[in-house]
Amino acid sequence: MALRHLMSPLDLSVAETEKLLDLANDMEQHKEQYAHICDGKRLATLFYEPSTRTRLSFEAAMMNLGGKCLGFPSSDVSSVSKGESVADTIRVVSCYADICAMRHPKEGAPLVASMKSSIPIINAGDGGHQHPTQTLTDMLTIRNLKGRLDHLKIGLCGDLKFGRTVHSLIASLSRYEGIEFVLISPEELRLPGYVTAGMRKKGISYQEVVQLGAETMKDLDILYMTRVQKERFFNEEDYIRMKDFYILDKEKLDSAPKDMYVLHPLPRVNEIAVDVDQDPRAQYFTQVQNGVYVRMALILTLLDLEGK
Ligand code: NCD
Repeated sequence: MALRHLMSPLDLSVAETEKLLDLANDMEQHKEQYAHICDGKRLATLFYEPSTRTRLSFEAAMMNLGGKCLGFPSSDVSSVSKGESVADTIRVVSCYADICAMRHPKEGAPLVASMKSSIPIINAGDGGHQHPTQTLTDMLTIRNLKGRLDHLKIGLCGDLKFGRTVHSLIASLSRYEGIEFVLISPEELRLPGYVTAGMRKKGISYQEVVQLGAETMKDLDILYMTRVQKERFFNEEDYIRMKDFYILDKEKLDSAPKDMYVLHPLPRVNEIAVDVDQDPRAQYFTQVQNGVYVRMALILTLLDLEGK
């Protein structure tokens, strides 16, 4: 099979995405059948930016498949701190591993790596741009909860400007029929113009609102909350002013539809109060679990080992 990378969720067609989600569901059901499929294979995790879930779920995924992991969790413990380029690092890592997940604060860095790599590169988040594996996680969670990925009204709330998970989720869901987005953000954190322009071009229905109230939530199928992306702000005062703009608490959720699920890529800061966690509509920890299965499915897909 030709070398394949995953930079954006659009690198997988709708059919391939659905197949990958089916595989993830099958893995959840039949864990033991996949326990040795990657025996002898190695995953490198190159994380130039902090992470808990994404890095550990990639590593757990590879271990669940019988493979091994190597890598670094931050740039200051690798030769990056000596000035090595991403292009050189990936040439080196290609000699040690069969597949690589890379997170980087600069938009496009994993793409640069993919151009020099002889192994599949997975974009595990590049700056405020894309986060395709979080999107696969979100899609699996939505499909399992709602039974479909079409004809859904999705509220996206918080930092829509810098939130890469939102950009990737919109790109992927926009390929399905009957998707409507309600974009809930302060004026300063609205979606970047290139994302809304793309939605208009495709004829995707969306509205932009500031308030997260009963009126906004009244016919949502999913409310996708996000954290204000502190690390992407130019000055701290702006962050402090914005950070608690939205707080979804129990009282607010009581005014929302009974079948409106709440998702969040995590980590949360204050935007979802802990008293919401007990509500059956709160599904962000289910997302975490699903993240392992989709990454297992993705590793097999890119290594061309599915069905082996
Ligand atoms: C997200 C990210 O890194 O973009 N986290 C994650 O991978 N689950 C969301 C965030 O950091 O806010």
